[in-house]
Amino acid sequence: MQLAGRLKGLESGIFNEMEKCKRQVEARGITVINLGVGTPDRPPATHIIDALHRAVDKHENYRYPLVGRPELYRSMAGWYRRRFGVALDPDSEILVLPGSQDGLAHIAMAYVDQGDIALVPDPGYPIYSFGITMAGGVLYPMPLLEENNYLPALEDIPRDVSHKARMMWINYPNNPVAAVANRDFYRKVIEYARQYNVLICHDVAYSELCYDGFKPMSFLEMEGAREVGIEFYSLSKTYNMAGCRIGFAMGNREIITTLKRLKSNIDYGVFYAVQEAGIAALEGPQECVEENARAYQRRRDLLVDGLASLGWNMFRPRASMFVWAPLPAGYSSSIHFSMELLDKAGVLVIPGVAFGARGEGYVRIALVQEEEVLREAVQRIEKVLQK
Ligand SMILES: Cc1ncc(COP(=O)(O)O)c(C=O)c1O
Repeated sequence: MQLAGRLKGLESGIFNEMEKCKRQVEARGITVINLGVGTPDRPPATHIIDALHRAVDKHENYRYPLVGRPELYRSMAGWYRRRFGVALDPDSEILVLPGSQDGLAHIAMAYVDQGDIALVPDPGYPIYSFGITMAGGVLYPMPLLEENNYLPALEDIPRDVSHKARMMWINYPNNPVAAVANRDFYRKVIEYARQYNVLICHDVAYSELCYDGFKPMSFLEMEGAREVGIEFYSLSKTYNMAGCRIGFAMGNREIITTLKRLKSNIDYGVFYAVQEAGIAALEGPQECVEENARAYQRRRDLLVDGLASLGWNMFRPRASMFVWAPLPAGYSSSIHFSMELLDKAGVLVIPGVAFGARGEGYVRIALVQEEEVLREAVQRIEKVLQK
């Protein structure tokens, strides 16, 4: 069969190679410590699982759910008001999604035409680029550099590119670089969006995985944000519901209506039982969220301190579930180093270059294992760095 042109070049050679190498290592009887994919390893709180159990027994929950339950929309609006002080109209400014990824993948179809430019972070979470490419758009990578605190320098985007740009992706707390943004940055983004008439999509999936008392903000807290864009929020990381797919798009009414229209032609919504679990998560006790963040903070400290004791230094992220680590001395290729870690230590991390050219020189380490496993990972890494 002939592959459609838009798919060409999209297969990730890096991930395939890593998978092949992982299987070879496992065939040698080594249990690989997987710090690769950012999938939460902890379960949701009991009250969320209980709500799901009860909802699964209700026969009426097996109809097509379409756009979703009004109670769910009210719960999400209430959560945003309590957490961010952002007031959203549940009827017109929120859309439930079968995981935020679904919205991230589809939004470009509504706003990017063949040949239009779209601005994406480099390195960046791959779905932003994938969605744009599927829509026929042309990617303009915005470098996220350490010297700019991993914020894109909007003033460096050439004017002709800005004039042709239709949309921009931003994502803080960031995957993969684990950086955070502030009001000043969001203000510049809104000014830019107004000047060039660019749609802003902000992905805030990691807002609740935050440490040392730091609380990330919502883009929608900013005055004018709702005129220029929308925000995607996910229950996957906040409540460990990654496999129980539910997320939201929120903000500009017109954009939400458009996405709703697009989505209503693609699928029939989120399983009602999952919606009920979502309501339980959003409305129920929130100690589980804080407890979750504390667990990740301990993991972060263990890993960052453990690797520093080996002479491998990296910044201590204030949020997200990742550590973005510059390659240790003596290495220049993130693929080569990741392969060596996997082959020699049985520790899987993702080469930074898998997230874009500007990710070269780094690896992403996901904090998705218990502390004792991370401790073992540090011990195993020591053997590789010592030689
Ligand atoms: C930055 C970012 N956004 C969105 C997602 C996906 O979230 P969801 O499970 O809601 O689709 C992920 C998952 O890893 C992510 O890292």
